[in-house]
Amino acid sequence: MGHRIDNPILVKAALKRPVPYTPVWLMRQAGRYLKEYRELRERYTFWELCKNPELIARITLLPIRKFNLDGAILFSDLLLPLVELGFEVFMDDEGPKLLTPLQRPDELERLESRRLLERIGYLKEAVVALKQELSPKVALIGFAGAPFTLACYLIEGKGGSFLKVKEFMRKQPKVFATLMEKLSEVVLEFLKVQVEAGCDLVQVFDSWAGVLSPYEYGRYVMPFSRKVLEGVGVPVVHFSTCTAGYVELIAEAGGEVIGLDWRVDLAQAWQRLGYRKAIQGNLDPSVLLGPKEVIRRETEQILSSVRGRPGHIFNLGHGVLPQTPEDNVAYVVDLVHSLTEAKG
Ligand code: CP3
Repeated sequence: MGHRIDNPILVKAALKRPVPYTPVWLMRQAGRYLKEYRELRERYTFWELCKNPELIARITLLPIRKFNLDGAILFSDLLLPLVELGFEVFMDDEGPKLLTPLQRPDELERLESRRLLERIGYLKEAVVALKQELSPKVALIGFAGAPFTLACYLIEGKGGSFLKVKEFMRKQPKVFATLMEKLSEVVLEFLKVQVEAGCDLVQVFDSWAGVLSPYEYGRYVMPFSRKVLEGVGVPVVHFSTCTAGYVELIAEAGGEVIGLDWRVDLAQAWQRLGYRKAIQGNLDPSVLLGPKEVIRRETEQILSSVRGRPGHIFNLGHGVLPQTPEDNVAYVVDLVHSLTEAKG
């Protein structure tokens, strides 16, 4: 975690250093609520966008050119590593679907990080180009899915209640552990590629960890997440949803920053962690549908509960909704800055 004098303020906040104002970025800031993105999607399939270095860079920069964001998240998808490892994924309006979910233990052999790394030159190229293009004030954020969330898609084939995953995990704990072990290696190598190419920090999404009890999270998931979260070499945001009941375990698994959804009081959760980590979040994404008075009220609520303590990165509690007016995104970003300026 080398200290550079020109660290973007998002990185400083991740390290709990004092900052001139609260940094802000938004999950899914490069997505369907943007007119230019929707136009590109009329010309290309989703995976075509994800595999073309010029398009990756262009889409990553779309929200940066429009809004005063402190971080640019690399345009890609959580499922890209699985696609490159030969699991075909369909993307329709309801979300992703794996054509053939994992069925037999021998298919685990496909989860080979070397195979993945051979195939993602376009991602490296995009990161290098983005580092040249971005102002040094704007952090470049890499990301990956956590092993459990990837296992959810591999076993279930789609989003939902993940009953198949739970059944598999309990009935075949050894095979499940092998799967998680392989996924943690793939994820770690995948993140390292992004960091070596120039990402300033990364976020690990354990979007579906919250379907588990604290005990099962600790038993089946935490040891594998820990491997990923400890080995990256730049600050990591460990994000999950519906895990407010065991945020202490999420923090114990690792990450310099804990990313929270909106179902928990951010300041209370931070206190429960003894302020040992930085914290990210946690405006309900649907608040950005408006009206602006409510955006202001809810944003003020979060910021005043934090009381200027160093180590807060403002974000939504999950991704920007496709129906979100661009104008409201501009509004919330500037609001966070103006409300926190000179208080950091
Ligand atoms: O945040 C960003 O702007 C960067 C790009 C990004 C995408 N997906 C692009 C995307 C990131 C960081 C992701 C992460 C991702 N992908 C997660 C973790 C975050 C979360 O939402 O919990 C998950 C679970 C996925 C899998 C996935 N990909 C889903 C569930 C969906 C469909 C539903 C949805 O919320 O969009 C996708 C599709 C997807 N990923 C789109 C984009 C821009 C829309 C696809 C389209 O253009 O048709």
